[in-house]
Amino acid sequence: MSTTQPQIIHVLELGPMENFVYLIEDRASGRAAVVDPAWDVPQVLALAEQQDVRITDILLTHSHHDHINGIEDVLRRYDAQLHLLKDEARFWGSYLDLPTLHHGGDRIALGDTEIEVLHTPGHTPGSACYRIGDQLITGDTLFVFGCGRCDLRGGDPEQMFHTLTDMQRKLPADTVILPGHNYAEKSASTLGEQIEGNPFMHFDDLDRFVRYRMHYHDKHRHEPYGPVSKGHEMPV
Ligand SMILES: [Fe+2]
Repeated sequence: MSTTQPQIIHVLELGPMENFVYLIEDRASGRAAVVDPAWDVPQVLALAEQQDVRITDILLTHSHHDHINGIEDVLRRYDAQLHLLKDEARFWGSYLDLPTLHHGGDRIALGDTEIEVLHTPGHTPGSACYRIGDQLITGDTLFVFGCGRCDLRGGDPEQMFHTLTDMQRKLPADTVILPGHNYAEKSASTLGEQIEGNPFMHFDDLDRFVRYRMHYHDKHRHEPYGPVSKGHEMPV
């Protein structure tokens, strides 16, 4: 990791669903933000202690149980501010007091570290990705060689198509992708590698994407996901 960046992003793989929990450490202030705290919070707290940082913020990519079940354990230890998109809070019906509700394009200051909030609906209505420099924490929107399912409550494959199309158009190819689950042969990737090898990034046609996401993919591909060449997504 370059020492010129204001932050270091640490990762832990936790729980029975191979969740990645990220700890964004701002070097100058000693502040840290934990993304999607879940499962084994003592490991997250131990990492914060080991790095000698204070968790001042909790960022949610979305509100599914496997990404949020450690929030209260973090809050028991740190007086941290919870951040999520307004659309996700509405969908979730959150019982938590006074979160900071964001819209796509907002920026969160964590000491010297700037975190940009992207609204990336599809897996849930208010799914978010967090962009920190050239790194993008993608939650269950984009996995390495995969993408989040759209058949659960609040999922929408049409929105996912537009989200993934926008990402390809708007973000640099060298953006480092840090996903919400360890479902692939490797734990991180670049957007350029995903544009080449992620079958969900190969569609120009909305209807074909929707069929692939909703009816074809899960029957034909299995973890750990590897690259798929263009043209090999679906036989028809
Ligand atoms: Fe999810």
